[in-house]
Amino acid sequence: MTEQGLTIGDMLKMMRDPLGAPFFPPALQALLVATWVLHIFFVTLALGASLFSIYAFWQQRDERARQLGRLSARLTPNALGLGIVTGIAPLLFVQTIYDPLWYTANALTGFWSVSFIFVVMGGYSLAYFFYLKGSQDRRLLFTAVISFVLLFFAGWIMHVLHGVSIRPEGWMTWYMPDGVIDTRGVTFHAYNIPRLLFLLPLQAGLSLAVVLQFSAWYLRRRGDEPAFLDWVAELGRRLGVIVSPLYALAGLGWALTEGPEFGVTLVALPLVALGAGLSGYFLWLKGKQHGPQAVLIWLAGLLVVAIVREVIRVASLARFGYSVANYPYTIDWGSVIVFAVTTVVGLAIITYLALVIYQAYATREGHISPRVERLGKVAVGMLGAWFGFFLLVGLYTLIVLN
Ligand code: HEM
Repeated sequence: MTEQGLTIGDMLKMMRDPLGAPFFPPALQALLVATWVLHIFFVTLALGASLFSIYAFWQQRDERARQLGRLSARLTPNALGLGIVTGIAPLLFVQTIYDPLWYTANALTGFWSVSFIFVVMGGYSLAYFFYLKGSQDRRLLFTAVISFVLLFFAGWIMHVLHGVSIRPEGWMTWYMPDGVIDTRGVTFHAYNIPRLLFLLPLQAGLSLAVVLQFSAWYLRRRGDEPAFLDWVAELGRRLGVIVSPLYALAGLGWALTEGPEFGVTLVALPLVALGAGLSGYFLWLKGKQHGPQAVLIWLAGLLVVAIVREVIRVASLARFGYSVANYPYTIDWGSVIVFAVTTVVGLAIITYLALVIYQAYATREGHISPRVERLGKVAVGMLGAWFGFFLLVGLYTLIVLN
């Protein structure tokens, strides 16, 4: 209860968008969970690939590691680009159904949420720079190291924003510590180390492990040296064998810390089972190569994690009577159509990007098929037309509706 007699639950409800959500809120919640899976897969892959390329260029002995290091340096900005694009989708849904949480967390951590953009820009630019200009004699290796640190820091900021957002009971104190308003937004008010270990470095290891398995399967098709590819696949498998039990342990640590806080300690079961299941899977993979299967299994695992994250948020907010199921909504067909068309245009661009990356390595010459080139032209054309449409809507609003 605040001094004015408002409860936290009242405050949360009053902060919701007075126009309501533009579509059925539980559908938006499901999309939030699903799209986050892609986001976290690509950003953790970027982190894993970045770290491996640093290691490979740093140790200068093993030629195979250096060869893989070059591929990793190239994969880092590609995966990161996809991670940033797929991060926008959950952002959209969070802002729509969890707006009181998201905006408050961003205001309370204002300095870092604004810095986040520059941190990501710096991390991406340096990763790209290292891929273009870095060389085997460790020249410019420091750019890769700074890029990795910046990207990790971006994940840390994301984690803190989320941590602040699911703890409304702390907001007033964080806003006015000792009765004095603090508008700097520089303090990391809430975080959970086991959760962060689980979501960032360990998932980076596992994303890299499955992609190494996948790469061995994929590069074999263009006739790369089998001995090198066997080494790559085994490296991925071993990484998986080492990281998976640690993943189970960190999951347990996460469940035992945030679980009691929000009354959901049972989330330990899926998290530990996931770590144990992955350990078994990587042990079983010995002597086998299952590229696409390994990636699909990992994406299914990430879906379990995404659901656990959502269960924790739902449990936290239920303490204050806030539920997505009660979020007011009016189906706003204009928004729904804009959303649907943006999704189609976005998917076309992402499919094009993914196919270019896929085909660029599928042949030694990096040949991109004319069909994919055509898709690229269509996708970019659609994007241009869509920008044009937005511009016209803006002009119409400004000139006619004003
Ligand atoms: C570039 C490096 C990035 C990394 C390493 C990263 C990592 C993460 C991590 C670890 C989480 C989960 C936090 C938690 O549950 O504790 C997360 C959530 C999220 N990230 Fe990112 N992220 C990055 C960039 C981005 C970008 C550029 C966007 C948006 C355009 C974005 C949007 C989101 C959203 C919307 C969530 C979910 C927030 C929620 O559910 O409350 N991320 N990210």
